[in-house]
Parts: sequence; C-alpha cells; structure tokens
Amino acid sequence: MLQTTNLNIFYGDSHVVRDVSLLIPEGKIVCLMGRNGVGKTTVMKTLMGLLPARSGRISFGGEDITSLRPYSRARSGIGYAPQGREIIPSLTVEENILIGLEAKPNASRVIPPRIFELFPVLKTMLQRRGGDLSGGQQQQLSIARALASEPKMLLLDEPTEGIQPSIIKEIVHAIKKLKEQGGLSILVVEQFVSFVRGAGDYFYIMEKGAIAAEGAIPNLSDDLIRKHLAV
Ligand SMILES: Nc1ncnc2c1ncn2[C@@H]1O[C@H](COP(=O)(O)OP(=O)(O)OP(=O)(O)O)[C@@H](O)[C@H]1O
Ligand SMILES: [Mg+2]
Repeated sequence: MLQTTNLNIFYGDSHVVRDVSLLIPEGKIVCLMGRNGVGKTTVMKTLMGLLPARSGRISFGGEDITSLRPYSRARSGIGYAPQGREIIPSLTVEENILIGLEAKPNASRVIPPRIFELFPVLKTMLQRRGGDLSGGQQQQLSIARALASEPKMLLLDEPTEGIQPSIIKEIVHAIKKLKEQGGLSILVVEQFVSFVRGAGDYFYIMEKGAIAAEGAIPNLSDDLIRKHLAV
C-alpha cells in the first residue's frame, strides 16, 4: 500500500534520514521505533509531504507520490496525527474534526459515525474548545481529525506519548478496533512496547537516521529492545 525506497532527508547540511525503505501493506499495523532524535518524526513528515526528500521514492497504492503536496496526499487517502497532537485550541472539537473532512474528495460535511464509536467522549464534547480538553482527549481528537476523511492510510506519531494510562488504554483499543474493521493501513511511531507487541504486525527500528533492525512482531526480542530502545 505505502512504500518508501531509499529515502534520504536533510535539514540544511544535516543528513538526518539515511536510505530508509519501509513497506506498509494493506490492513497491517507497522511500528516505527527508536530512541529520541533518530529521525522517526522526520520520516513521518516526509511521508505526509511536509518535508522534502533529498532522494528516494514514496509510492502509495502504486502511484508515485514523492513530489505531491501535503494536501494532495491527504486527498489521495493519507491521514496524519502528528506528534504533539497539533489540534487547534481556539476551535471547538467539532470544528477541529471538520478540518480533517476538508481532505475528503467531494466532501460532505458529515463526520463519519464510526469516529464517535471509537471515541465516544468526543461526541459529548463537540462544542468544547479543543484547548480545554485533557492531553489524552486532544490525542483522541487528533486521531479523529485524521480519520474524518476516511483515509486508507493512517500515520500516527507517538499517540500514547505523555498520556495517562487509562486513556492510553482507550487509544490502544481504538487502534486495534480500526485494524479489525479492516481496509486501513497504519504506520505508528511508538515507544510503548506492550502496544507494539499486542497490536503490531511488523516493526522497524531506527538508529541514527537508518533502519537498524526490522521484522515481524514475534521477532521483536528483548535483546533488540535492550540494544536499540532502552535508555
Ligand atoms: N527543524 C529541524 N531543523 C534541524 N534539525 C532538526 C529539525 N527537526 C529535527 N531535527 C533533528 O533531526 C533529528 C531527528 O529528529 P526527529 O524529530 O525526526 O526525531 P524523532 O526520532 O522523532 O525523536 P523523538 O523520539 O524525540 O520524537 C534530531 O537530531 C533533531 O535534532
Ligand atoms: Mg518524534
């Protein structure tokens, strides 16, 4: 479904992502892991078109999207919940979700009901300002916004970061439910190993901008975690 081939990404002269090749098959959850600063968010932003790749290729559903603008990528079916949520605090919950609908071709202004099945709390808060929500609720809102256009591919950058355990459970449950419903491919940057083991199909571990290890989730050994992920 989504594939990158030898992506190289720079900030100015600084070569931050090196020859990264990823494959996210249809209906699978692929986890991108690695310590702080190894380049995970840089990869996600480049997949969404927010940063250019210096070289390499990104294809989505067989189409080369390497030089498409972010808006066109969203329209072609990629949803993105960025690290740190980035919801708009002064807009209501409903308005924040409606922003995600802009990416839908021939947009009807109706929020898909399954969003409220996944995150019932949001339905009770539609007229509240996004900025008044808790961190965990803002994360649910960010995922809801990414899902509003009913994407085929979902990019989630650290959906459980800095969130209290009870809401982590809800978010993990929602991601698993999305997978069960089928059809959606998910690339998730995640440090939370029990989630990766419980929900993921495949993992990539980055080290200094390059892929240092990859495999099916049963091969994510404690050794690999000690070597590449433990602080
Ligand atoms: N806008 C920027 N300009 C220059 N360097 C940057 C910029 N953003 C990130 N970097 C650097 O690029 C490297 C990769 O950063 P990135 O945010 O992709 O890491 P990450 O793996 O997502 O880390 P974290 O786990 O902390 O979110 C880091 O060394 C970071 O300092
Ligand atoms: Mg990051």
